[in-house]
Amino acid sequence: MTLIRAAVITLSDKGFAGQREDQSGKKVIEILQNINAVVEHYEILPDEFETIRNKLIDLCERNFDLIITTGGTGVSPRDVTPDATLSVVEKRLYGIEMAMMNESLKYTPFGMLSRAVAGVKGRTLIINLPGSPKAVQENLNVILPAIPHAIEKIKGSTIDCAKQENGEKS
Ligand code: MTE
Repeated sequence: MTLIRAAVITLSDKGFAGQREDQSGKKVIEILQNINAVVEHYEILPDEFETIRNKLIDLCERNFDLIITTGGTGVSPRDVTPDATLSVVEKRLYGIEMAMMNESLKYTPFGMLSRAVAGVKGRTLIINLPGSPKAVQENLNVILPAIPHAIEKIKGSTIDCAKQENGEKS
């Protein structure tokens, strides 16, 4: 399995101010170990549209394969992560968004309050997750099996998808 260069960004005003321990970002890092991802960048940022947008652009220009954000996906006045993400992605991955929504609703009706976005900018896959460790686990686990193949395709791989799906070597 090829190494995945990953960045994890936690969006939380309280976390940024040092008023809350960031368990969600740590949970993302822990789960990403299952797909051979190396987290080379981890940061807590405030819920500020321009700050988030600029950071996403910067990480894409630094050729990260994967950016996972956690937090700020809801409908509170300060929740702007999906809006900043939408302002940078070129191809939206509705399938990932739907898979997360579908899975979340099995656990809680509040799942429908997340506006989490997934998409591609350049050669980087960007995925928003909601902001609790429980939500991170529930959402990330369901999309995890598709992430390595998504990254291979984003990078221009011509491997046979059918064989990949069957777990065969191409
Ligand atoms: N999805 C799952 N799977 N599990 C959860 O506990 N929490 C929801 C939702 N998605 C939750 C979930 C809640 S309570 C909210 S308010 C929204 O995500 C948005 O969360 P965020 O603003 O922290 O991103």
